[in-house]
Amino acid sequence: MLNGEKILFSGMQATGNLTLGNYLGALKNWVQIADEYTTFYSVVDMHSITVRQDPAEFRKRARNLLTLYIAAGLDPEKNCIYYQSHVSGHAELAWVLNCFTYMGELNRMTQFKDKAAKHADNINAGLFTYPVLMAADILLYQADVVPVGIDQMQHLELCRDIAQRFNSIYGDVFTIPEAYLGKSGAKIMSLQDPSKKMSKSDENVNASIYLMDDPDSIIRKFKRAVTDSEAHICYRDEQPGIKNLLDIYCACTGKTPDEAVKEFENGGYGDFKLAVGETVVSVLRPLQEKYQELSKNKDYIDQVIKNNAEKANYYATKTLRKVHKKIGFPERIR
Ligand code: TRP
Repeated sequence: MLNGEKILFSGMQATGNLTLGNYLGALKNWVQIADEYTTFYSVVDMHSITVRQDPAEFRKRARNLLTLYIAAGLDPEKNCIYYQSHVSGHAELAWVLNCFTYMGELNRMTQFKDKAAKHADNINAGLFTYPVLMAADILLYQADVVPVGIDQMQHLELCRDIAQRFNSIYGDVFTIPEAYLGKSGAKIMSLQDPSKKMSKSDENVNASIYLMDDPDSIIRKFKRAVTDSEAHICYRDEQPGIKNLLDIYCACTGKTPDEAVKEFENGGYGDFKLAVGETVVSVLRPLQEKYQELSKNKDYIDQVIKNNAEKANYYATKTLRKVHKKIGFPERIR
């Protein structure tokens, strides 16, 4: 709790081009709930080096993501938007928490198993302790709530376990965070294979709508979206392609699936796909315009980066001092 407001922490990695799935499933949610909390929205670049990155490309992507947070509607005066690597406290706390996390716990993390299988030539220790760094992110700011996707729930549970373990030894040091799962239906699937999540790393460019796609590409991708031969617009699991398009339409318009079905049930798939495509274009257009405008304003973005890194550091240092004292590190002589 800060100034009577609950604290919210979340972060995203700057790997790959962000998709409509990232926007509707995460970023849009962040903006909607931002006003109710004191927020920390980090570009978690330290997590990204668990996989090899090209330095120039990586730096560019990180800045683009930070800019996108603002373009999506997060006011950087009210929301602490910053790079994880600019606050050394993340690494410091992660080290301490490493000593309160068991190998067995980390061995159970399904994301580690998946990633290790995918990057068999680079199963580094950072990949293994990734969830501990994530716990440090959250606990460093004494976050009460953490908006995450379902795929991060296991990591959040671990974070809670670590925090409780630490508190049970040293007293009330950390706030125990709660997950904030966004509204259901915001999980956006691939346009080419609706059984798979829309992913920024999909090799098929037609499977994902990228946030910076131009209107023509967006419409073209929706026209090509894989559906079925039922020739009837219904919201049900047996028609995953149509269901996904309805989910996208509802996430963009705020309508319920029932309302959307009523709107389209008497028409064909072609018209429906076009309507969804046009809706997405109209949602992304203002985002893209804001993003282009902000990207040109180097000084402004630099200022945001500087001010918010200072702000984040201030809160991080407060928690770290407390932790160091509790575990018995010698006092600093000033
Ligand atoms: N691991 C998260 C993901 O890949 C990103 C992340 C890092 C995060 N630290 C966090 C999310 C802290 C929420 C809170 O999606």
